[in-house]
Amino acid sequence: MENLDQEKFHQFIGKMLGDLGGALSVATVRIGVRLGLFEVLHSGGPATAAELAARAGGLAERYVREWALAQAANGYVDYDPESGRFSLAPHQAMVFAIEDSPVYMTAAFDMVAALIEAEPKVEAAFRTGGGVRWGDSAGCLFCTTGAFFKPGYTHNIVQNWLPALDGMTERLAEGASIADVGCGVGFSTLLMARAFPQSRFVGFDFHEPSVAEARRHAQEHGLAERVRFEVAKAKEIAEREFDLVTTFDCLHDMGDPVGCAAHMRKILKDDGAWMIVEPLAGDRPEENLNPVGRMYYNASTMICVPTSLDQEVGAALGAQAGEARLAQALHEGGFSDVRRVAEGAFNMVLQARN
Ligand SMILES: C[S@@+](CC[C@H](N)C(=O)[O-])C[C@H]1O[C@@H](n2cnc3c(N)ncnc32)[C@H](O)[C@@H]1O
Repeated sequence: MENLDQEKFHQFIGKMLGDLGGALSVATVRIGVRLGLFEVLHSGGPATAAELAARAGGLAERYVREWALAQAANGYVDYDPESGRFSLAPHQAMVFAIEDSPVYMTAAFDMVAALIEAEPKVEAAFRTGGGVRWGDSAGCLFCTTGAFFKPGYTHNIVQNWLPALDGMTERLAEGASIADVGCGVGFSTLLMARAFPQSRFVGFDFHEPSVAEARRHAQEHGLAERVRFEVAKAKEIAEREFDLVTTFDCLHDMGDPVGCAAHMRKILKDDGAWMIVEPLAGDRPEENLNPVGRMYYNASTMICVPTSLDQEVGAALGAQAGEARLAQALHEGGFSDVRRVAEGAFNMVLQARN
């Protein structure tokens, strides 16, 4: 090739090798998580493949050896050639073994698998311009989504995001009424409910299997008395007089975000607030051509845009809509006071009030 810039070429091929290695690690990481290999390596300390296979309950050593070498090549575990032992350093354990760490990321690998499963339906939608119903695209995209967002929510909702709203934590501590709209499997609702025992919570979602799962979680955590989960489209919620409405990573998935905003105004008390948690993004696409935007644009192609296009209006804001576009939808829905009150590595938090 005449015009080939050799340096750029080598850099690009190097990047592609890294990307493909990451893609190829999806299956082995998922197997390792399901078989408890990361967990026993973390809890039991350095191990040879044979020791690891035994520790994990008598797995086949030959498979475990290949798996462990694959993870060492991934950089996801360390390998000591002297002893032939594998180990997990603290930073690796936080991602692969410690479930309550803020960066426990194994669900992201499940999400990649779900996106691959969704391929035929989304590909067909490219031709028609139609949508793909949430819950239809892959076997358990909805539970994977819940697990994917959980570490970020566990470490932010109560600690950082609710306190960023005007006077809301005091109100919740005294006893308030909260609607978590588009609640999915309910982790966000339950986290808030556990932190504010005087308040009452209702999670709404239009996807029945998610609501069933959320109810199961509420029972499991002994919170079913104060937390209800109901099947409802955001625009059709009949209950009223909420002090706080929350939407976590779902407004951009809705077909009609403006209609949703108008309805959220109706279900809130006059002095209530809506907390809108959305993916972090700049307003211009070129601001999002970075690792976070890369993740979101890919997921949005496969999940968010098809979900919205399946619904009335089909605004398809996409996961990288950005603050200006989101605020416009909130203003069009009738909210006069909209502002960004917080942000994290992956999310921005907007507050909308009358
Ligand atoms: C990306 S998931 C986020 C779920 C949950 N909030 C979380 O953060 O784990 C988007 C959720 O929005 C729900 N959803 C999408 N459109 C909806 C609508 N119009 N009304 C109610 N729920 C909707 C989906 O069923 C799904 O649970």
